[in-house]
Amino acid sequence: MAVYQATTSAPVNIACIKYWGKRDTTLILPTNSSLSVTLSQDHLRSTTTSRADPAFTETKLWLNGKEEDIKSGGRLERCLKELKKMRKERIEDKEPNAPKLSEWNIHVASYNNFPTAAGLASSASGFAALTSSIAALYGLNTFPSSSAKPSIASPSELSLVARLGSGSACRSLFGGFVAWEAGSLPSGTDSLAVEVAPQSHWPTMHALICVVNDAKKGTSSTSGMQRTVETSALLQHRIKHVVPQRMEAIIKAIKEKDFDSFAKITMADSNQFHAVALDTAPPIFYMNDVSRSIISIIEELNRVSLEKTGHLLAAYTFDAGPNAVIYTEEKNVKQIIEIIVRYFPQAESNPFPDPFKLFGGKQPAAVP
Ligand code: DP6
Repeated sequence: MAVYQATTSAPVNIACIKYWGKRDTTLILPTNSSLSVTLSQDHLRSTTTSRADPAFTETKLWLNGKEEDIKSGGRLERCLKELKKMRKERIEDKEPNAPKLSEWNIHVASYNNFPTAAGLASSASGFAALTSSIAALYGLNTFPSSSAKPSIASPSELSLVARLGSGSACRSLFGGFVAWEAGSLPSGTDSLAVEVAPQSHWPTMHALICVVNDAKKGTSSTSGMQRTVETSALLQHRIKHVVPQRMEAIIKAIKEKDFDSFAKITMADSNQFHAVALDTAPPIFYMNDVSRSIISIIEELNRVSLEKTGHLLAAYTFDAGPNAVIYTEEKNVKQIIEIIVRYFPQAESNPFPDPFKLFGGKQPAAVP
């Protein structure tokens, strides 16, 4: 008897223009477009195996080896429903001999090789891996890089499904530089991820992940961003008057490999995202003292570098947690790591308690 099983993995992506706010909380439609870089090395990934079997009596999910409840009408169910519909309409209805996988229950097991829900975008890689794994099980995709035959569902179409799981997940369906276009249709069919440039376009771009604290975060992105939508006047200004211009400018900077513009926009957008979190009632604080020290160090390095060379050295960005991601070009990676490690010794030799831990005692991941 044939075994129907597929394993795929998807990396984390780190936003330069942040997604923060939904206009539709069920379909996960954002209040603004966003843009990210998908990390390309093996350090921050989710790997998911899906199996369909007519003997399974129910659909089950394991996360990092622990069985999780599947909430009726929840995010996973919505993703699964869309993928089953695609399988049925695009394959089973057209090929009478195709097994009716869409009618069978499935078992899904997913692993992260990094701390879950610590502001390291685990839901992004998690739902991207889940979507691509079930798409592979159903014969819908060729994700991520195999281009042997055109896929039945394109990465952008699959990004619509991943988006139903977690907004930022839609961007992890592509490598390199990726935009999530907010779209305007109530159905959400135009709210999808598109490739801005592949990783090979700007291979000297690196991202250094500084794990300041790998504990689970206090306010989840999902609940935090809705509180911001309900209470922040600054968010409305950001949506209308800031993000549209920034999206255009950063796409131009990426296409022209203009690091100075890329860095300026990335830092400004991280700072505005955290300002919007502070403008929420009650306020949300994601960064801590170590995060703020990293900002000061990078700002000072950039000031000196600008004086000496006329160019910026690095850009920091922070998601919904205290961990820093530092974008820099290959030629500056060594210098940045040396400086960060000098100011914040790594875990083993670090006299400070947990919140001061940097890199979790491991080498920082250099990407793409
Ligand atoms: C700060 O995608 O985790 O990382 O759609 O509710 O699952 P949900 O939220 P999520 O939010 C990510 C927010 C962010 C910014 C970003 O990745 O763009």
